[in-house]
Amino acid sequence: MNREELIKEINRLKIEKNAIILAHNYQIGEVQDIADFVGDSLQLAKEAIKVKQDLIIFCGVHFMAESAKILNPTKKVILPVKEAGCPMADMASAEEIREFKKKNPELKVVTYVNSSAEVKAESYVCCTSANAVDVVKKIGAKEVLFVPDKNLGSFVDEQIEDVKIMKWEGFCPTHERVTLEDVEIIREKHPAVKILVHPECRPEVFHAVDFVGSTSQIIEFVKNSEDKKFIIGTEKGIIHSLKKENPDKEFIILTEKLICENMKKTRLEDVYRALKNEEFEISLDEKTASKANEALERMLK
Ligand code: 13P
Ligand code: SF4
Repeated sequence: MNREELIKEINRLKIEKNAIILAHNYQIGEVQDIADFVGDSLQLAKEAIKVKQDLIIFCGVHFMAESAKILNPTKKVILPVKEAGCPMADMASAEEIREFKKKNPELKVVTYVNSSAEVKAESYVCCTSANAVDVVKKIGAKEVLFVPDKNLGSFVDEQIEDVKIMKWEGFCPTHERVTLEDVEIIREKHPAVKILVHPECRPEVFHAVDFVGSTSQIIEFVKNSEDKKFIIGTEKGIIHSLKKENPDKEFIILTEKLICENMKKTRLEDVYRALKNEEFEISLDEKTASKANEALERMLK
């Protein structure tokens, strides 16, 4: 099948199977273009709850499809590429969190959605990069264990004074690759252009830039800005959404290292196969799903 036929088949199968395609901002351009909804992890979680269709084809990484299943359990949720995971989510296990809680019963576990359902199930509340500061502020805890991203944990810590925040030692390998030197080099080349980065970057990186936010907050910043040029410090896929929404603006990637191999695994052919064969289905143990749902629901409240 050529590209045109493939797109036609995907759209035909979508109607035949009563399916919806959700995609993260980091997906490749043609996958974003075929999706019914493109967003950041918070927007995608909210959208998943509203889905009326029988089948959700989730173009992203495993934890995102898992969150959709937890939030809308009667739907069949499909992750087109089984191996599309998030290395940061694998940096914390439920067993480790249980051990930590036993030793520190007074603290509340706040877990970034980039985590497994089992880890969410051990948590008091979840958060995304778009709402982490608000979530920690609102739960009214004196002491928090922030899991698994140490960088997002530091970003939250710097904005909240009266909560003691312990940080798990996890990180996103993609954003961790960005160095202060990368920022200095690009600043020298384009001194008048604002640099926008994701809070998964190292603290020395987010201290040196003009704006720090989740993917949707970066998109919003660009939309509302009078500037015509921006330096983008998050996964390269976001540039597709930015260009589409702002055809009159120009985007420079902070460094070509900003590619998440897992987000790039899903091709149009995989979306087609996922719809046709309804593979790979996300299934969860009921008890884990229900406990993880409590932490996700608490975040959404
Ligand atoms: P957002 O919450 O901004 O969508 O980011 C998710 C992610 O995986 C960042 O690396
Ligand atoms: Fe995980 Fe980083 Fe990829 Fe996001 S960009 S999915 S945090 S590895």
